[in-house]
Amino acid sequence: MPLIRTIQIDPETRLGVWSIEEQESFFRERVNISPDIHHPHKRLQHFAGRYLLVTLFPEFPLEKIKVSDSRKPLLLCDSFHFSISHCGDHVAAIVSTKAAVGIDIEEVKDKIERVSHKFLSPSERDFIDPRHSLPHKTICWSAKEAMFKWYGLGSVDFKENLVLQPFVYQSTGFITANFVKPDSNTRLYLQYIMENGLCLAWTHPV
Ligand SMILES: CC(C)(COP(=O)(O)OP(=O)(O)OC[C@H]1O[C@@H](n2cnc3c(N)ncnc32)[C@H](O)[C@@H]1OP(=O)(O)O)[C@@H](O)C(=O)NCCC(=O)NCCS
Repeated sequence: MPLIRTIQIDPETRLGVWSIEEQESFFRERVNISPDIHHPHKRLQHFAGRYLLVTLFPEFPLEKIKVSDSRKPLLLCDSFHFSISHCGDHVAAIVSTKAAVGIDIEEVKDKIERVSHKFLSPSERDFIDPRHSLPHKTICWSAKEAMFKWYGLGSVDFKENLVLQPFVYQSTGFITANFVKPDSNTRLYLQYIMENGLCLAWTHPV
C-alpha cells in the first residue's frame, strides 16, 4: 500500500504521499527517465517522486521536466505546476494545473530546535508553544520550505522574506503567511499535517 495519502485539494490540485517499499526497478519500469544521481537512496527517492506525479495526474509529461538554475524542476509550458519533497522512505508531491505550489515533508528532529534561531524571527519565536516547541518549530520550518519551493527562484532569507502569522500548535492546521521580497509580495495559505513524527506542509493556489 505505497500510496498512503491523497488529497484532492480542489478540482485542479492534487497532493499525494508515497511510502517507498519498492525496489528502484519498480519505478524504473514505469517512468521513462534516467536521473544522473549516484547515491542509490537519493535516486530511489527521485524516481518515486516522479512516479508520484504521474500517479496523481496520469497525463503529466515527465519527459518535459527541466531543472532551473535554482534547481527547481518545472515544465516550461506550465501545463502543470508541481513540487516534490522526500524524507527517508517517504515522498510527497503536489500538482496543480492552476498556479504555483510548494510542499515539504520533514521528520521531527532535534536539529530543528538547534537551528531555529536561523529561520524564525523574534515575532515568530514569540508564538511558539513552549510545551510543544520542537513539533511547533518543525511545522514552521516545513511551512517555510514549502514557501521556498513555491517561489522557486532561490535566494530567500527564511527570517526576513518568509513571514508566518501566529498559529496555535495542533496536529493539523492552517497557516497564513507572507512572502515578502522586493520582486514579490504575496499572501500565501498553507496547511499542515503532523503524524507519526512526520510533518507535511504545503501551499496551493486559492
Ligand atoms: C532545495 C531545498 C528546498 C531542498 O530541500 P530538502 O529538504 O533538501 O529536500 P526535499 O526532499 O524536501 O526537496 C527536494 C526536492 O525539492 C525540489 N527542489 C530543489 N530545488 C528547488 C528549488 N529551488 N525550488 C523548488 N523546488 C526545488 C526538487 O524537486 C527536489 O527533488 P528532486 O531533486 O528529486 O526533484 C533545500 O535544500 C534548500 O535549499 N532550502 C533552503 C535553504 C536555505 O535557504 N536555508 C536557510 C534557512 S536558515
